Amino acid sequence: MDPSGQTAAIKYLKEQNSTNMFHELLTDEILAAAPVTEPERQHYFIGKLRDYIQMQAGAGSDSAEHMQAGAHRSLTAAVVTFGCQMNARDSEKLEGILSEIGYTITQDEQAADFVAFNTCTVRENANEHLYGRLGRLKQSKKADPDKIISICGCMMQEADEIEKLKVKYPYVDIIFGTHNLYTFPELLFMLFRKRQHAADEIYTAGKEVLRTSSDDRERMEKLLRYGSGPSNLKDIEKLSRRPVISVWKDSGDIVEKLPSRRKYSFKQGINIMFGCNNFCSYCIVPYVRGREKSRKPEEILEEIRLAAADGVKEIMLLGQNVNSYAGGLNFAGLLKQVDELCDGIGIERIRFMTSHPKDLSDELIETMANARHVCRQFHLPLQSGSSRILQRMNRHYDKARFLDRAARLKAAMPDISLSTDIIVGFPGETEEDFLETLDVLKEVRFDSAYTFIYSKREGTPAASYEDQVPEDVVKDRFDRLLEVQNRIVDENLDRLTGACLPVLFEEISEYDKDLITGKLENGITVHVPADPSVIGTIRKVRLTENHRFYYTGEL
Ligand code: SAH
Ligand code: SF4
Ligand code: F3S
Repeated sequence: MDPSGQTAAIKYLKEQNSTNMFHELLTDEILAAAPVTEPERQHYFIGKLRDYIQMQAGAGSDSAEHMQAGAHRSLTAAVVTFGCQMNARDSEKLEGILSEIGYTITQDEQAADFVAFNTCTVRENANEHLYGRLGRLKQSKKADPDKIISICGCMMQEADEIEKLKVKYPYVDIIFGTHNLYTFPELLFMLFRKRQHAADEIYTAGKEVLRTSSDDRERMEKLLRYGSGPSNLKDIEKLSRRPVISVWKDSGDIVEKLPSRRKYSFKQGINIMFGCNNFCSYCIVPYVRGREKSRKPEEILEEIRLAAADGVKEIMLLGQNVNSYAGGLNFAGLLKQVDELCDGIGIERIRFMTSHPKDLSDELIETMANARHVCRQFHLPLQSGSSRILQRMNRHYDKARFLDRAARLKAAMPDISLSTDIIVGFPGETEEDFLETLDVLKEVRFDSAYTFIYSKREGTPAASYEDQVPEDVVKDRFDRLLEVQNRIVDENLDRLTGACLPVLFEEISEYDKDLITGKLENGITVHVPADPSVIGTIRKVRLTENHRFYYTGEL
């Protein structure tokens, strides 16, 4: 690049808009001095961004009065999460980074200076959700062009969704994927540079990329070189408003020790593994989350120790298929170590999500039954009760094996609460197949079932199956399934009405502010009239009434 040409253009831009200074905190030198090892590199950018945001917040207090008083308007950030527990945990990491940079976390995405959407793409309606929310932000972005909108998560691992965003939602500022979530500080730094007419420098740690905005880099460099003609400057300005994009194809890396901010002070999700190798024929998760990677037991135990020191009472070990944990020991081994660790440090409850029935070993059941802190709750996704459909789903178990696993769990822990996931209308599902599913529901009698209508995901094997089930048939089966399951839940929950059991109180009820919502050890919700000071504590509650999906009770 011809450095004098760039200087001329930038000098001109600076004169044009003095508030849009190429600030000394965003220079090429500062970028070049970033460490190349992680997490040091991201911590470096967090530090630089903190200085930059502080400077911006100061400049943002526009009235002279404010300036004199030295008052700072604190910048705000909202993180909107779609999807599963894994995404919820990732959002806590984003919030942790944003807080360290100096943003105040808010729920109000319309008013926030920074909004992150952490997306899910497991079913079509998850995608529609995002586009709805994004559309509703258009006006507030128009009113405040400096508002930053960033999108990450599973949906961004699909190249056609990125293209759609670029065309239909050009007001999105940052796009990144599941594999490089940890580079978020760096990407935000790049965005501020780009807004001030620097060329994109997308660092990919040598990884194969799905999409980046590096094309913009070449164009920007060219434009900067051509000097400062008016149409040229207009193009530079336009290019500087385009999004910073960095989405990787996969990554073997697990980057530890970045900030994170707990949503609840008393409970925390702990990732034990990432990704999935199972390729169930309907499911997009393995494509967007990549292959399985397990965290080291030392890292997991250390994170739990720190959480306990911080007052956490409940942890949930997270993974798409926790039973295939392979961090030098298996999941049962890890669970045993976690249980022993929790003995002296104040963590009372250990949960885990999700287990695949094909990998549910007797060893795990035994470990669970003998553990002191592992909750008597098991989420065991059935998907279908028909062995024929299970085979087409590539689930590697049949109806008999599933029933055997469920029976084994109940025999080892009679007070266990079982829950499941079911897909209705998988391609080729006949009435007989569906009746098999109802049959398993009636036999296992789950305390709760998350039921989904099959959603065709492009790129998965099942999307190309020819025998898709007609919508009206699916709808009818779905309604019948709910009817059966609701009746079972109603009868099941009666078993505990009148009992006096420990409840961990979590929050003020969404529906009635005089009630505090908590969870039994088995995961079932309880609403109790109580003072908000009980939140975060475990108290004994008498369960007075069964409302099918929850109880009401009294302290
Ligand atoms: N790893 C977990 C769950 C991942 S997705 C497991 O194996 O259980 C959560 C649930 O979404 C799945 O259990 C399944 O019931 C549902 N699901 C996944 N893909 C789907 C699709 N294409 N259509 C409808 N439901 C789906
Ligand atoms: Fe999807 Fe199957 Fe993996 Fe679960 S186990 S995430 S359903 S592919
Ligand atoms: Fe959705 Fe991704 Fe979880 S697709 S269900 S957020 S792993």
